[in-house]
Parts: sequence; structure tokens; C-alpha cells
Amino acid sequence: MKIIAGKNVSTSDEPAVVVVCVNVRIGPRAVSCGGSDSEAIADALEAGIKSRDLNARVERIRCLGMCAKGPNVRFVPGGSWFNEVEPGDTDTILDHLAG
Ligand code: FES
Repeated sequence: MKIIAGKNVSTSDEPAVVVVCVNVRIGPRAVSCGGSDSEAIADALEAGIKSRDLNARVERIRCLGMCAKGPNVRFVPGGSWFNEVEPGDTDTILDHLAG
């Protein structure tokens, strides 16, 4: 996994948002996050948020524009990026979220 650190913004009132690209692109050369099992990553992040009782939610979206570097996860607004995420990376991502 590659991490591009950002300023992770959250308040105690509003949940942090963890954006996971689940887009599936069709075609023999069409790499995509969803084609690399990013739904499982989103599920694991949701489970981790629940078990850690974090004030955060997962939002599944269709493409972050970095398809060749996927699966991609991002904290919004303006937070860290995580490229080439694998299911075993979710604890590290949540460690960043927890600060
Ligand atoms: S398919 Fe995930 S960034 Fe485009």
C-alpha cells in the first residue's frame, strides 16, 4: 500500500468519511478498484470502524480518477490517500483515521 498523507479533517460532531472506490471498469485492459475486490476492503473498513467505535463512515463511490493505482481509499475532505490497498491494510488505514 502507498500512502499520500493529507490533513485529515474531522470534528467530534460529524463522522469522518472514508471513501472507497468500488468502480468496475469493463474491458481487457480496464483496471479498476472494483476489479481488485475493493468491496471486500470497504466491508473490512466498516467492520473495523464498528469494532473500534470510531466516529466515521464508509462511502462507496465510482472512481477517484486513479484507476491504475487502485484499489484506492481516501479520507475526505482533504485527507490522506491510500493506493494499491489490500484487504490486510485496513487496520493501518484505520490507525491513520484514529490519529
Ligand atoms: S476505478 Fe477506482 S479510481 Fe477509477
